[in-house]
Amino acid sequence: MEFICGRAYTGRIEHVCIGIEDGKIAEIRKTTESSSKEYGSEIILPAAIDVHVHFREPGGEYKEDFFTGSRAAAMAGVTCVLDMPNNRPAILSSDAFNEKVKKVERKACVDYGLYAGVRKDVYEVKCIGYKTFLSADNEIFCQPQNIETLLIEVKKTGKPLAIHAEMEECIERRKTQNLREHGMARGKDCEIMGVERVLSINEKIGAKVHFCHVTLAEVAEKIGGKASFGSTLHHLLFSRESRFGYEAMGKVNPPLRGERERENLYRIFEGGRIPILESDHAPHLMEEKKDFESAPSGMPGVDATLPILLHMLMEGRIEMETMLDMVCRNPAKFFGLNKGAIEVGKDADLIVVDFSAESTIKPLSKCGWSPYEGMKCIYPKDVYLRGEKIVDNYEFIGEGGMGRMIT
Ligand code: DOR
Ligand code: ZN
Repeated sequence: MEFICGRAYTGRIEHVCIGIEDGKIAEIRKTTESSSKEYGSEIILPAAIDVHVHFREPGGEYKEDFFTGSRAAAMAGVTCVLDMPNNRPAILSSDAFNEKVKKVERKACVDYGLYAGVRKDVYEVKCIGYKTFLSADNEIFCQPQNIETLLIEVKKTGKPLAIHAEMEECIERRKTQNLREHGMARGKDCEIMGVERVLSINEKIGAKVHFCHVTLAEVAEKIGGKASFGSTLHHLLFSRESRFGYEAMGKVNPPLRGERERENLYRIFEGGRIPILESDHAPHLMEEKKDFESAPSGMPGVDATLPILLHMLMEGRIEMETMLDMVCRNPAKFFGLNKGAIEVGKDADLIVVDFSAESTIKPLSKCGWSPYEGMKCIYPKDVYLRGEKIVDNYEFIGEGGMGRMIT
């Protein structure tokens, strides 16, 4: 058995030797005589899971493809991503799903699950869960009168349903020139209305619901324990008052809110009351972001979220337990992934962090930019995917095809 030894967080920081067999953690002991990799001052942590990325394959490979997206994830300490179905073509049939699998399986550098949209024969595919939009931003849109059927059908599969909960009937479909106008056209009521609608319909159905990118503390409170939800780092760190190189770099759906709403969300984040932190990695080219009105919504983030969290952790701005809950334990638990903890039986997905190696965010996505560029962070030094090293001394050494699909 191979062992990785060093100081690890297992509820506290202690020296352990992690024995790995068939990609899984087989044993955790204090010392070992067997061959082992010994770390010094670094800390070993479970690698992160990102339950919300858009790797753009098929149809948007010029912005990101599954290789570049999953390589960026790996370098940022994320060894499992769940990829969204708003592709071209949209993943709304088993054919579209299976075609996507064929394309991405040779390219994935980390483990992945694929969401499916809901329509036709899609209930038979090997998806990790379903995704729907209550806003008519793309073909995955669900009309309000169909929410009930959707929840009933998804409930039968036993799989989770991730919901983009901005309600179409509340959105003002007009041209906007800046972040303030964009934020007003898709106001907070749209998010509140969508979440309330789903919660009330799902009360008697009991489908397994995850609300994506919650931007408001009051929505988080409303959801309480009734469903899972995630928030993004961009809604925690940026507001519509933030300044970007091009203003449309901050154009995203749901929109960046006002500074007061951002502060309220940040407070519950610090307090450990956000179950899941998801990047909503949605890369678009800088070229497409120059003109605000025509710019597509979305920004990259899988390449920055964990490195920034690790820096916050080092500065004592968040607790270790809060971080592990948000990016490891809760994502694993809700989506049924055998990852997210240094425990016997789990996949040996580990990151090794040198907390003295402060760095700054550099874009790792194919899109070539990051809204977090220049912000302080700590990248993982080494990353292991099921016991195999895929990042060595901050350098990616993995390959496309190493990642396995999780169903
Ligand atoms: O800003 C966004 N961009 N919000 C979404 O819901 C979709 C995403 C994208 O795919 O670009
Ligand atoms: Zn998204």
